Amino acid sequence: MACYFRRAIAEQVSRAVGVPSEKIIHHVHAIPANRKRASADFQLHLRSAVDGLVDVTYCEEKAEALACKLASDSVINEISLARGVLTFKINRSLLVKKVLHQIKQDGSSYGFTSELLSGFPKGLTLVEYSSPNIAKKFHVGHLRSTIIGNFIANLKEAAGNKVLRVNYLGDWGLQFGLLGAGFSKFGCEEKLNANALQHLFDVYVKVNAAAEKDEEMKQSAHEFMKKLETGHQQALSLWTHFRGLSIAEYAKVYKRLGVQFDEYSGESFYRERSQDVLNLLRSKNILKITKEGTGVVDLTEKDDLSAYSTVMRSDGTTLYITRDIAAAIDRMEKYNFDEMVYVTDKSQRIHFQNLFKILKMLGKDKVDCCKHVTFGRVQGMQTRRGDVVFLEDVLDEARARMLQNMANAATSKAIEDPADTAEKIGVAALIIQDFKGPLQSDYHFNWDEALQSVGDTGVFLQYTHARLQSLLTLWSTREEEDFNVSCLQEPSAIATLQHFLRYDEVIYKTLKELQPRYLVAYLMGLGHLANVSHHSLEVKGSPPEVAHARLYFFNAIRVVLASGMKLLGIKPVDKM
Ligand code: ARG
Repeated sequence: MACYFRRAIAEQVSRAVGVPSEKIIHHVHAIPANRKRASADFQLHLRSAVDGLVDVTYCEEKAEALACKLASDSVINEISLARGVLTFKINRSLLVKKVLHQIKQDGSSYGFTSELLSGFPKGLTLVEYSSPNIAKKFHVGHLRSTIIGNFIANLKEAAGNKVLRVNYLGDWGLQFGLLGAGFSKFGCEEKLNANALQHLFDVYVKVNAAAEKDEEMKQSAHEFMKKLETGHQQALSLWTHFRGLSIAEYAKVYKRLGVQFDEYSGESFYRERSQDVLNLLRSKNILKITKEGTGVVDLTEKDDLSAYSTVMRSDGTTLYITRDIAAAIDRMEKYNFDEMVYVTDKSQRIHFQNLFKILKMLGKDKVDCCKHVTFGRVQGMQTRRGDVVFLEDVLDEARARMLQNMANAATSKAIEDPADTAEKIGVAALIIQDFKGPLQSDYHFNWDEALQSVGDTGVFLQYTHARLQSLLTLWSTREEEDFNVSCLQEPSAIATLQHFLRYDEVIYKTLKELQPRYLVAYLMGLGHLANVSHHSLEVKGSPPEVAHARLYFFNAIRVVLASGMKLLGIKPVDKM
């Protein structure tokens, strides 16, 4: 396994420089595999690493003296030094054997068992994501939050944390006043039951338009809202009805996407407790009342209100941030999490900065374990019917387009459930398109680009997985048998094994930065290596021993590919 070799190298260097190997192991990096040219397996940059460790400045002579003390052995076959970088070549048989056995043994946790990850604290991670607003448009930002949050939750879980997945719905506010006031006029119980999200949105649009022209409608919306705020029984039961149906509808669509939640929370949960927040702020002398009667928190040290956050309207009602303060405190007390991650678009950056600051002022030190993961805007995600209104629209579009592509492709196999397969591939395409770059960047979405079968797309990954899977049906009976390492010495096999050596480092970086693009790039690399190997390492027609070793190797690729895809939120397909 990757760490077995890293450890062997670190121990050699440790003996030579007299620094504990634990300090060195993190500087031993797998060299990115090169498909064209044979290369060594690991490297150690003396300038950046050992310098700090041995507490002397780097110079050529010292580097050479160090290199002289290192000697090849049965694990490390070659050591060389060039421009301050030590490189190590592992014994080829051992490389093949150790890595493939490790993948066989670890299965989908390959990479996560690595010593490199031991420094990450384990505990309860609360991830809050998706969080759409009921009766309003589900915009692309919510889709991004959904898939990014799901990815972070998957990753944290794989790294050994307990994960709590929370959806914080926008389930309170004037839209419910409008719905409550206008449902009897524009609503229809039947349509509501057939498709709650669609119908509530339609009604909302109609009432909203009516309220703009008609003072009376506007007035009754406010009255209904007031009834809700004061806990009027009938009003609340209508609200509960709308909310419940919406969640049921959402859950169905999330399921298509492979996303689920442990808890559907929402702003409505905190309407009472946000009054407690105001009291708490008052008691700590943090709440200031302005001339206009609004309640604000001064965010500066200077106490001059040059930066502040409004937490109370002049009529005494609370705001988005007040409810967020209440929700954060509640979660701290209820779950005592070790870490909390909020996932929203970058326009809410200031909101979360303010939120964290106010929590700190309230003495809630757990806020130091809270993180806001942001992402940029997506332009151009439209369906053939026009703008995206619901998550369902995006999924339907992805599926329809993929079905069309599959029908056009002559190579498509007979598939039992084409719609289901098309959906899994379509979702993969969406996810990869979204995860390719830095999350904070804005990007332009293009269906044709995302759905290409060549290039770095989700379709390519699915295609690679399906090809491996169909090859492996030849193998199933001999899975438990060991293989002969000398049958896997071709350049494409070695390059792929070198690529496996790097997986734990990629996971390390992905976990550290919570950016999926490192994992995406890694899987694309693996996909390309798989295809090269597929061409050069024939199974059919090879002697049984060779065929078996190759299938053992292809299975390892499939395992790592599938587990990486699942982390990203993709369901690998077996046929396409
Ligand atoms: N519902 C909000 C929106 O659509 C996102 C909620 C984000 N989470 C939070 N705790 N404020 O903009």
